[in-house]
Amino acid sequence: MSPYILAVICILLSTCSFYETNAQLSANFYSTTCPNVSSIVQNVIQQALQSDARIGASLIRLHFHDCFVNGCDASLLLDNNATTNIVSEKDAAPNTNSTRGFDVVDNIKTALETSCPGVVSCADILALAAESSVSQAGGPSWNVLLGRRDSRTANQAGANTSIPSPTEGLTNITAKFTAVGLNITDLVALSGAHTFGRAQCRVFSARLYNFNGTGNPDPSLNTTYLANLRQICPQNGSATALANLDPTTSDGFDNNYYANLQNNQGLLQSDQELFSSGTTLSIVNTFSSNQNTFFQSFVQSMINMGNISPLTGTNGEIHSDCKRIN
Ligand code: HEM
Ligand SMILES: *[C@@H]1O[C@H](CO)[C@@H](O)[C@H](O)[C@H]1NC(C)=O
Ligand SMILES: *[C@@H]1O[C@H](CO)[C@@H](O)[C@H](O)[C@H]1NC(C)=O
Ligand SMILES: *[C@@H]1O[C@H](CO)[C@@H](O)[C@H](O)[C@H]1NC(C)=O
Ligand SMILES: *[C@@H]1O[C@H](CO)[C@@H](O)[C@H](O)[C@H]1NC(C)=O
Ligand SMILES: *[C@@H]1O[C@H](CO)[C@@H](O)[C@H](O)[C@H]1NC(C)=O
Ligand SMILES: *[C@@H]1O[C@H](CO)[C@@H](O)[C@H](O)[C@H]1NC(C)=O
Ligand SMILES: *[C@@H]1O[C@H](CO)[C@@H](O)[C@H](O)[C@H]1NC(C)=O
Ligand SMILES: *[C@@H]1O[C@H](CO)[C@@H](O)[C@H](O)[C@H]1NC(C)=O
Ligand SMILES: *[C@@H]1O[C@H](CO)[C@@H](O)[C@H](O)[C@H]1NC(C)=O
Repeated sequence: MSPYILAVICILLSTCSFYETNAQLSANFYSTTCPNVSSIVQNVIQQALQSDARIGASLIRLHFHDCFVNGCDASLLLDNNATTNIVSEKDAAPNTNSTRGFDVVDNIKTALETSCPGVVSCADILALAAESSVSQAGGPSWNVLLGRRDSRTANQAGANTSIPSPTEGLTNITAKFTAVGLNITDLVALSGAHTFGRAQCRVFSARLYNFNGTGNPDPSLNTTYLANLRQICPQNGSATALANLDPTTSDGFDNNYYANLQNNQGLLQSDQELFSSGTTLSIVNTFSSNQNTFFQSFVQSMINMGNISPLTGTNGEIHSDCKRIN
C-alpha cells in the first residue's frame, strides 16, 4: 500500500499513532547486529552505581534534556568544536554545571564499540541507559524502542528555550511538553523521575527565603521540610550544595514522590505546583495511591518521550565518539 493511501486511511480513522510517531523505532532493532546491547549498557551502569548512587538519576535526565531539543538525537552529547561549528548544548542554561554522567555514557559507548563497532547510536544509548537506571533503582523495566541515529548538529539556543525551568510556572511548563507532543499525564508521570537524584540549592533556595519577591518562604512548603532545607541551604551558603529530590527514599525509584507532594514536600517549585490544582492534582493523587498505575504510566510516557523526532533511516549518523561528529 502506498504511503499516500495509508496516510488517507489514517486521517479517516484517526488511529494513526503508528504512522505519525516513528514506526521505524523497534525493540529488536539490534537483535542481529548487537544482541547483547542491553546487558552491556546494564553492566556499565551497575559498575558506575558502585561508586555513585546518583548516577542513574543523572543518566535519565540526559535522555530528557536530549529529547526536548531537536528530538532524541544525542545532540546534547556533542562538545564545542570550532571546526565543525558545534556550539555545545552542554553550556546551555539548563545544562551548565548541572547535567552529569557524560563519562559513563562514554564508557558505555566504548564497551559497545568493542562488541559491536559502529552499530549502536549515542541517542539509543541514552534511551537504554534511562531504562536501565530506572530498573536498577527498583522501578519498572520495559522494552526500549531503538533505531535512533545521531545528529551532526547541536542547538544551544533550543536547549536554552525548550527545556523547562523549575520557576517558570505550570502553564509554561505544560506548553513546553505540548510543544513536543507530550500531555499532562506525561508531565505528571515523567516528573516522577524526581523520585531519585539531587538538586542544587541555587535552583530552589528562593523558595526558602524570598519566594517570588515576597521576602517570605513559599507558603506551599511544609514547615518541617522548610526547616530541613534551610539547614542544607543556609542563606548566603553554597549555591551548589545538594538536596535529595525525594527526601524519603532518595535513591530508589518508587511513587513516594507523589506522597511527598501531598505532604507539601516537593523540592522544586515545578514539583509542588503539580499538586496545586485541577487535572495534575488528581493525577498526583492517583499515582500516590497506586504504584503500579504510576509505573505503567511512567513506562508509556518514557516511550512517548523517546519517540520525539528521532533521526532514522539514512538521516544523521552513528557517532563513533558521542562527543563529536564523525
Ligand atoms: C517537568 C519539568 C522539569 C523541570 C522543571 C525539571 C527541573 C530539574 C532541576 C532544576 C533539577 C536539578 C538540577 C540541578 O540542581 O543541577 C532536576 C533534576 C533531575 N531531573 Fe528534572 N525537571 C523536569 C522534568 C524531568 C523529567 C521529565 C525527567 C526525566 C524523565 C527528570 C529527571 C530528573 C532527574 C533524575 C534529576 C536528578 C539528576 C541528578 O541527580 O543528577 N526531570 N530537574
Ligand atoms: C552476551 O552476553 C552473555 C552473558 O551476558 C554472554 O554469555 C554471551 O557470550 C554474549 N554474547 C555476545 C555475542 O557477546
Ligand atoms: C559553573 O561552575 C564554575 C565553577 O564552580 C563557575 O566558575 C561558573 O561560574 C559556573 N557557571 C555557571 C553558569 O553557573
Ligand atoms: C544559552 O544560555 C547561556 C547561559 O545563559 C548563554 O551563555 C548562551 O549564550 C545562550 N546561548 C544561546 C545560543 O542563546
Ligand atoms: C512564561 O512564558 C511567557 C511566554 O513565553 C513569558 O513571557 C513569561 O515570562 C514566562 N513566565 C515565567 C514565570 O517565566
Ligand atoms: C495523554 O496521552 C495518553 C496516551 O499516551 C493518554 O492515555 C492520556 O489519557 C492522555 N492524557 C490526557 C490528560 O489527555
Ligand atoms: C508571583 O508574583 C506575581 C505578581 O508579583 C503574581 O502575578 C504571580 O502569580 C506570583 N507567582 C506565584 C507562583 O505565586
Ligand atoms: C546574606 O548576605 C547579605 C548581603 O550579602 C546580607 O545582607 C545578609 O545579612 C546575609 N544573610 C545572612 C543570613 O548571612
Ligand atoms: C508535613 O510533613 C509531615 C511529614 O514529614 C506530614 O506529617 C505533615 O502532614 C505535613 N504537613 C502538611 C501541612 O502537609
Ligand atoms: C572537532 O571535530 C572533528 C571532527 O569530529 C575532530 O576531528 C576534532 O578532533 C574535533 N576537535 C576537537 C578540539 O575536539
